[in-house]
Amino acid sequence: MMDKPKIVVAYSGGLDTSVMVKWLIETYDADVITATGNLGQRKELAGVREKASATGASKAYLVDLTQEFVEEYVFPALKAGALYEKAYPMATSLGRPLLAKLLVEIARKEGATLVAHGCTGKGNDQVRFEVSVAALAPDLKVIAPLREWNFKSREEEIAYAHQHGIPVSATVSSPYSIDENIWGTAVECGLLEDPTVEPPGDAFQLTVAPEDAPNTPAYITIEFEKGIPVGIDGKRMESVALVNILNDIGGDHGVGRIDLVENRLVGIKSREIYEAPAATILHFAHTELERLTLDKAVFHFKSQLAAEYANLVYNGLWYTPLRKALDAFVDETQKYVTGTVTVKLYKGNLVVAGRDSLYSLYNAKLATYTGEDQFDHRSSEGFIKIYGLPVKTYHQVHSNEDGQSTSEHPVVVKTDITV
Ligand code: ARG
Repeated sequence: MMDKPKIVVAYSGGLDTSVMVKWLIETYDADVITATGNLGQRKELAGVREKASATGASKAYLVDLTQEFVEEYVFPALKAGALYEKAYPMATSLGRPLLAKLLVEIARKEGATLVAHGCTGKGNDQVRFEVSVAALAPDLKVIAPLREWNFKSREEEIAYAHQHGIPVSATVSSPYSIDENIWGTAVECGLLEDPTVEPPGDAFQLTVAPEDAPNTPAYITIEFEKGIPVGIDGKRMESVALVNILNDIGGDHGVGRIDLVENRLVGIKSREIYEAPAATILHFAHTELERLTLDKAVFHFKSQLAAEYANLVYNGLWYTPLRKALDAFVDETQKYVTGTVTVKLYKGNLVVAGRDSLYSLYNAKLATYTGEDQFDHRSSEGFIKIYGLPVKTYHQVHSNEDGQSTSEHPVVVKTDITV
């Protein structure tokens, strides 16, 4: 008799992946092994392995990947300034390649030839999982049950779960689809599908409404070394603890709520609510420090590259030579992004309240309007003459443009150009 095929399944313990375990066992007559990655989500993971076993998994892994996630995935994206469509810090997008890596590692260890995920056929996550698996283990086959099976609604899945004795938690009554890790929470479905309406209060999981936030602001000083946050308020801190603290403080002050209509890779626009207090604070503070320490050309060029980096991450291309090359560029720019930024959090608002660096390029003697001023004002005259020369030349020839001509003053083409 042939051995049963082994399938390693990305398992969260939620309804879809629970039903998936049983469905794979039945449909593929397979030996199913579950893989759950802890990416620092607050949702309780205790009991997830027992639940997997109760659903029929032959083995269940629970692996804490939080530190690796923060240091190897989140911080590079932070240094790059990567916000998808200028807004979304990409908690989910950054998490998928690491979960794919976990699947591959367990598949290798268990000698499995198949891996499976619980992503739908119209989201970005299926792409991120499958392209990442293809990069890390081109020989593995991926199964996406949600694209294959015939359940048409959550109700049908719940009925299947009841029939097969799959434990279904009370949270399936939530109208939202939620994905969460330490870098942020993504909430969609339910009333949120209507982009004309404000999100209902119950859509938010970790931030208070700005109007309910404290009446006194919080000031936090964040210390960066080479673009990486290393301490808060003068205390050095380990990466995971630092991000958790900023999630707490930001959440308490209603900071980090993002309501976004975004362009998915699969061509549709979707509306999603994000809560990402730490990501919002860190991106903001990091950029403020770059404003002080990067020279103009690098700052401008890097902000264009940030959009490319975000697209790449969002589109599932983490394990690519381009991402590595971009990281090398970004790291070169971060050499002197060392210093502190103080931010003020107040009723959902986030502002800078001071920045400082040994490598600050802000030169008070050049910037000041006092008697200390060392800027050579006279040099500006010659500078402007040469700088504006092509503009002047053009408009001497095309004097009818930019509102210079009326019917009483018809176009006259001048041929002798004065400098
Ligand atoms: N739209 C986000 C992304 O593509 C999040 C996807 C998961 N969201 C969710 N609510 N389950 O990265």
